[in-house]
Amino acid sequence: MHAHDEPACQLRRDFLLAGGKLVMLAAASAVVAPVWAQRAGHAPLAVARLSALKLGEPSYFEYPQAGDLNMLVKLGVAAGGGIGPQVDVVAFSTRCTHLGAKLQDALQAGMQVLGPCPRHLTTFDLSRHGVVITGHATASLPQVVLELDGDEIRAVGMQGLVYPDRSRHV
Ligand code: FES
Repeated sequence: MHAHDEPACQLRRDFLLAGGKLVMLAAASAVVAPVWAQRAGHAPLAVARLSALKLGEPSYFEYPQAGDLNMLVKLGVAAGGGIGPQVDVVAFSTRCTHLGAKLQDALQAGMQVLGPCPRHLTTFDLSRHGVVITGHATASLPQVVLELDGDEIRAVGMQGLVYPDRSRHV
């Protein structure tokens, strides 16, 4: 054994230990993040008037942060998380949960689906909390929690993790 072997071995061990700690940190944040997203209190935001909605015609609003674009739509069929007399008004993030592609032009209102995604063709069911029907994504589309106050529709929370807008972090 050469005298310089031991420092190299020590370096390799330190490197592996540091890498292991990073992996553990990443795993911990992946577990904690969805819980945080569902429980975080966001200030309510008025997003539309119920009486102004037209069947299958989407409107858009940013929530919970500027740049987080969501689609509000009256589906015409009862939907999970829906509000209104027919329980058919829902809102969802327009960011695909696979790799964040923009879905705002992909509504198929007559079928109550959003998609196929322009990148890898994932399609989400808007009548069933945004579950994946087909495609690469494995997580449901984040759904905006809505409340109705008279004729005013308010966004009061998010269910699920919104795909991050990387432009905020550069
Ligand atoms: S980014 Fe939408 S399916 Fe890949």
